[in-house]
Amino acid sequence: MRILSVTSEIYPLVKTGGLADVAGALPLALKAHDIEVKTLVPGYPAVMRVIGKAEERLHLPDVFGVEARVLEVEHEGLDLLVLDAPALFDRMGGPYIDQNGADYGDNWKRFALLSKIGAEIAAGAIEGWQPDLVHAHDWQAALTPLYMRHSTTAGTPSVITIHNMAFQGQFSSELFAQLGLPDRAYMESLEYYGRVSYLKGGLTSATAITTVSPSYAEEILTPEYGMGLEGVIASRAEDVYGIVNGIDAAVWNPASDPLLVENYTAAALRKRMANRAAVASHFGLDDDEGPIFCVISRLTWQKGMDLLAEVVDDIVAAGGKLAVLGTGDAALEGAMRAAAGRHNRRVGVIIGYDEQLSHLLQGGADAILVPSRFEPCGLTQLYALRYGCVPVVARTGGLADTIVDANEAALGARAATGVQFSPVTADGLRHGLRRAIRLYGDAKLWTQIQKQGMKADVSWGKSAERYADLYQRLVSKGH
Ligand code: ADP
Ligand code: GLC
Repeated sequence: MRILSVTSEIYPLVKTGGLADVAGALPLALKAHDIEVKTLVPGYPAVMRVIGKAEERLHLPDVFGVEARVLEVEHEGLDLLVLDAPALFDRMGGPYIDQNGADYGDNWKRFALLSKIGAEIAAGAIEGWQPDLVHAHDWQAALTPLYMRHSTTAGTPSVITIHNMAFQGQFSSELFAQLGLPDRAYMESLEYYGRVSYLKGGLTSATAITTVSPSYAEEILTPEYGMGLEGVIASRAEDVYGIVNGIDAAVWNPASDPLLVENYTAAALRKRMANRAAVASHFGLDDDEGPIFCVISRLTWQKGMDLLAEVVDDIVAAGGKLAVLGTGDAALEGAMRAAAGRHNRRVGVIIGYDEQLSHLLQGGADAILVPSRFEPCGLTQLYALRYGCVPVVARTGGLADTIVDANEAALGARAATGVQFSPVTADGLRHGLRRAIRLYGDAKLWTQIQKQGMKADVSWGKSAERYADLYQRLVSKGH
């Protein structure tokens, strides 16, 4: 089976969050199911720099007023179709924002182009390769199913995956006329309170909708999590699937990770101590008793980072230490810096994005805090499980689905892999932290939790199989 995946980021080339990890790892996992995936991704400078020699597969002198080419190249096991449109993608800032942190004013056009080209490829624009199904990720690729619906290739099935309902790609309805869609597409698919919503366009057009955990698939039926699109999800309830993310077990393996000071397995957990010492020294923390909690996160409201800022003093008072790696809202960055200022050698904060350091933290910190208000799946808690870094998580979305809380029953059954807390408030988090610190005080119990976590299956195995089954079903239904 041939799949075209359409995404705005892909690890290891361009990453702002978990979407990149998923878009980079799922195609590799699908190979075991005899599924060939080609991934269409924008030719940002970071992508163009590393792809080297690539073959031109498509040249369009004028789409939306710009010149675009599609280049094919293999990179670290991924078959990439790179959308080279310098007028839209050759920019100095990030994939979505400029150097000052503002959204590019033409994001509507940049990602309409990505989607449009995805639909062209679905229709056979690339000689000798036509996909059986198209898999679009998030709002940036969400117009792909819509363009497909209004083209000759309307019969080709499509899947859209919601990685985060909070990002919907909403723009002024005035630009609708420039999207090259028939008038009826506005009311039928795109209109959202007088504006256009790219995500809604995808949700109303794709053959099936997936999201990245079963709990989040339920949650988005409610106004609190559906963020205005709960009605659209409800109207398509029969076509919605929750499939939990996996991790790339080759990139995230404590036994061989080159970014650790010392490699280790569950049988030799003492070796983690060398990584712990490195974490302490990197973040300017005392390397003494008391757990080191870490955070690897966007510093945003979604991630509950304001709650963390509220409880930092309690962590320190209870004998814990905190190492924070993250970037995000200026106010939250400031709150974290202030906490580090108040708690010399107990709280260390590095504001920035550092993939390498994130590995060391997973391999050295005792526990990771993920106090998210909502979390479609979450990947850092999955990496943490593999690394024996005990997850302390909010009971929501994918966090609820992937961590077994250390309650009495789970501890008795040797099933516990972390701590869940609820409600997701500062008090809830405080309570979770108290439980974690108490468990840490019992070295035997703590090791049991670490080892149980390291045994958990966080690979893509089962989830890739679920995607493969879904693709298969949709493709055979279409014919
Ligand atoms: P989201 O995509 O919502 O940000 P996920 O948990 O799914 O959340 O994915 C976040 C990904 O980004 C993980 O791979 C995590 O390790 C990484 N990450 C987040 N912040 C940082 C940072 N400051 N430095 C390095 N990696 C980070
Ligand atoms: C989004 C979500 C996160 C998820 C990731 C990958 O960024 O916020 O929970 O893990 O996508 O699916």
